[in-house]
Amino acid sequence: MGVPWTGSSDGGAAKVRGKFITLEGVDGAGKSTHLDWIAERIEAAGKKVVVTREPGGTPLGEELRKLLLAQPMHLETETLLMFAARREHLEQVILPALAAGTWVLSDRFTDATFAYQGGGRGLDLARIEILENWVHKGLQPDLTLVFDLTVEEAKRRRQLATAAPDRFEQEDLDFFGRVRSVYQARAARYPQRMRLIEASRAIPEIRQSLEEIVASICQ
Ligand code: TMP
Repeated sequence: MGVPWTGSSDGGAAKVRGKFITLEGVDGAGKSTHLDWIAERIEAAGKKVVVTREPGGTPLGEELRKLLLAQPMHLETETLLMFAARREHLEQVILPALAAGTWVLSDRFTDATFAYQGGGRGLDLARIEILENWVHKGLQPDLTLVFDLTVEEAKRRRQLATAAPDRFEQEDLDFFGRVRSVYQARAARYPQRMRLIEASRAIPEIRQSLEEIVASICQ
């Protein structure tokens, strides 16, 4: 185990841990549109922030991402590779940043595995929990913004945005319906951490909601 994510004891001079914020939602819900803007709001509040993504965020993770988005594979292989990329991401990026007091804003994290591999593809959620406990027991995001949108509207937006859909984007509406349901169920189960963002609204309205949420966590 490398960098610890729980409290450290260095005679009282420990830096305040940075906060960990994740963005989630079905493909096409619009989270990426708001990523840099949220980072700017955090910086404007005087915090240093690293913007990153999953799968990816490290050289190895980006290689795994290419495979995951293009290469057909067994569902368990897919799930294990998501967590392999995540382990590297934690070690190389997330944990060192948080320990140094830097905030981390990640486009997706483990909620995506519950939603996509669990909900979308039907892997037993208990098995994902085992991997979650193995890879990052004790670490959860401080805030998760779930961009929530009907699957029909998300599909329409995806079609406008992408000419060449990847392996996930090619899935049907039923798949995305199951993904969305898991996000909604998790948001209801973890209301302290997860906030549903009604993503069918115009961008300025969404930003107003985001501004309030981000301001509250920046205090
Ligand atoms: P992105 O399009 O948000 O960059 O994410 C890439 C795809 O990877 C997206 O379709 C969701 C999928 N994904 C999973 O299926 N499981 C995961 O754990 C993560 C992080 C992403």
